Amino acid sequence: KFIKNMSIVNKKRQCLDYKNKLILAPMVRVGTLPMRLLALEMGADIVYTEELVDLKLIKSIRRSNPALQTTDFVDPSDGTIIFRTCSLEKSRVVLQLGTSDAARALAVGKLVQHDIAGIDINMGCPKEFSIKGGMGAALMAVPDKAAHILSSLCSDLDIPVTCKIRILPDVEDTIKLVQKLAATGIAAIGVHARTRDERPQHRPHPDVLRALADAVDIPIIANGGSRDMHAYEDLHKFQRLCGADSVMVARAAQQNVSIFRPEGLLPIDDVICKYLRLSVDYDNAPHNTKYCVQSILKELQETPRGKRFLQCQTLQQICEIWHLGDYCRMRQQQHKLHGNIGRSDVVP
Ligand code: FNR
Repeated sequence: KFIKNMSIVNKKRQCLDYKNKLILAPMVRVGTLPMRLLALEMGADIVYTEELVDLKLIKSIRRSNPALQTTDFVDPSDGTIIFRTCSLEKSRVVLQLGTSDAARALAVGKLVQHDIAGIDINMGCPKEFSIKGGMGAALMAVPDKAAHILSSLCSDLDIPVTCKIRILPDVEDTIKLVQKLAATGIAAIGVHARTRDERPQHRPHPDVLRALADAVDIPIIANGGSRDMHAYEDLHKFQRLCGADSVMVARAAQQNVSIFRPEGLLPIDDVICKYLRLSVDYDNAPHNTKYCVQSILKELQETPRGKRFLQCQTLQQICEIWHLGDYCRMRQQQHKLHGNIGRSDVVP
C-alpha cells in the first residue's frame, strides 16, 4: 500500500510542482477568473480560486461556453456561475474547496478535476460561516476528520491535493498536525503564519513556519506576509524568512496584483485597465468586478472619479471611466454574436 501511495503522489506531483512558486492566495470575491488570469500574466506561477463551498458546486452543471471559450459550473436553479475557468489557466489553477465532509469533497473533486490543476481544502478560515458548518479552521480542531478528507481525495483523484491551515498557539502541536496531514499524501501545505484568533494587523510568525519546514518533507507554502510586501523582492524575502518552499500572497496582490511582476509594480490605473479588459473578455459579473476595483482604489474612492465609479452598475459604465467603453461594447457584441448567454449586466 505504501508503494502504491508513493506512486500516486509521484504521478500527481509531476503535474503541478509546488516548489519555488509564487502563488495567488485564495480570496473570496477576489480570486475569480479575470484576477487569476491577470496574476498569471503578471508573473504568478499558481493561482488559487476563491473558496467554493462543496454544497454549491455539487449541484452545479458543467457547461462549455464557446462564446467566451470558458468552462462554466452553473447553478441550475438560477443560472449563477459558481466557477468559471478556461484553458489558459488549466495547468496552474487550484480550486479551493470549503468542506466538512469527505464524500462531498470527493464528489466535487470528481466533477472538476479534469478542468483544474489541483484541489485545496480550506482549513484556516476563522469566519463564523465556516466554523458553524464545520469547515475552515474548525477542521484543525478535528485532525482525524481533516486527515480523512485529505486521504480520500488523495487516493481517489488524479490531481494533486493540498490544504491551507493556520498555525496553532503551540509550535509542537502545529508540527504534529502538519505531520499528520502530510502523511495523507498531500502534495504541499499552505500555512498562514497566524493563529485562528490573530488578525491581519498582528505580526505573522515566520519562525513557526521554519520549524514546520524542518519537520516535514512536503513543500511548505508560506502565507501571511502581505503586511510587509510592497515590492516583488518582498515576496522572496518572506519566503526566505519562513524557510519555505513557496510563497502565497493575498492582500498585497488584492491591492496591486503586479506585485508578482519581477520588473516592478505597475501604476494602479494600468492594473485596473488590464483587469477591466479581462473582466469584459470573460463577461465577469459587474458587482464582482466593482468589488475588485474598489480593493485597488481604496481611499481613491473618495475622489470625484472614485465617486462616479461607485455609481456604476454595469461593466460598460465602469469601463467608460477608464476609457474602455468602446472595447467593452465591441467585446460584448462579439459575445452576443457567438451566443453567450451573458449575465454581465445583471445586478444581483
Ligand atoms: C482571504 N483569505 C482567504 N483564505 C482562504 O483560505 N480562503 C478564502 O477564500 C479566503 N478569502 C479571503 C478574502 C480576502 C478579501 C482576503 C483579504 C483574505 C485569507 C488569505 O488567503 C490569506 O491567508 C491572508 O490574507 C493572509 O495572507 P496575506 O494577506 O498576508 O498575504
